[in-house]
Amino acid sequence: MGKVTAIVSGKGGTGKSFVTAGLGIALAKRNKRVLLIDFNPYLRGLDLMFGTDNGLLFDMGDIFSGNCSPQKAVYSCESISGLFIMSASQNTDDNINPELMRSLINAIENDYDHILIDCHGAGKIFETAVMSSEQVIILTNAEPLSVRCAEKIGRKLKEMGLDNTRLVINNFNEKKFFRLDCFQDIDEIIDKIGARLLGMVPEDEEFAFALQKSSPFGVRTKAAYAFDRIAARLEGMDVSLFIE
Ligand SMILES: Nc1ncnc2c1ncn2[C@@H]1O[C@H](COP(=O)(O)OP(=O)(O)O)[C@@H](O)[C@H]1O
Ligand SMILES: [Mg+2]
Repeated sequence: MGKVTAIVSGKGGTGKSFVTAGLGIALAKRNKRVLLIDFNPYLRGLDLMFGTDNGLLFDMGDIFSGNCSPQKAVYSCESISGLFIMSASQNTDDNINPELMRSLINAIENDYDHILIDCHGAGKIFETAVMSSEQVIILTNAEPLSVRCAEKIGRKLKEMGLDNTRLVINNFNEKKFFRLDCFQDIDEIIDKIGARLLGMVPEDEEFAFALQKSSPFGVRTKAAYAFDRIAARLEGMDVSLFIE
């Protein structure tokens, strides 16, 4: 699979930032250099999750307006080597078009093994993100509305000619899934969305709290293990989808 991965979901709050953060940590732990691009103009959050918010001076707005070089807008996460963050602007969406974004990625991609783009949900900025990526992770929760939105995103990506897509089901809780009783099984969700399953991330309050408190690095709870497996699969390793 390619180096640049967009993480998208139709519905908000599905866990795009959660998964971008978790997967980024897991890839960095595999001794990879990983850049997380927070592509949510006005609404960035990865800087808070990783504690780089205080020192954040430059963002993508500064790069595109010529205030700084792309490298100046990259912040390293002190607690884990190999993990870096670049953030969208808080004040403008800069009309970032795919050509502009692609030229930015071209300028920096040799410095990293992986670039993960935490995407804004819809609109032009979403299109720019997916068109600048080599593969797309469609994220859903195992709930009807989230699945319907992911189906829509899957169709949209196909219309755009983007078929290198994978599916991640996030925030999964088996007990709730069967109690909800809206889908027969996971395969039904996979078939509806029409993308190959890359992994499942369990509901994990500990990991979510650690991200809220800017300290996700040493956390070894069930979501962290799921991210390790997804990171390995993303790197082409033959790791089984489910924990036996
Ligand atoms: N696997 C999970 N387990 C527990 N909480 C989760 C999980 N995934 C997401 N969350 C929580 O759900 C909320 C929305 O997640 P977030 O990553 O901000 O969504 P998005 O970026 O798609 O809008 C956050 O409070 C986050 O901590
Ligand atoms: Mg988010």
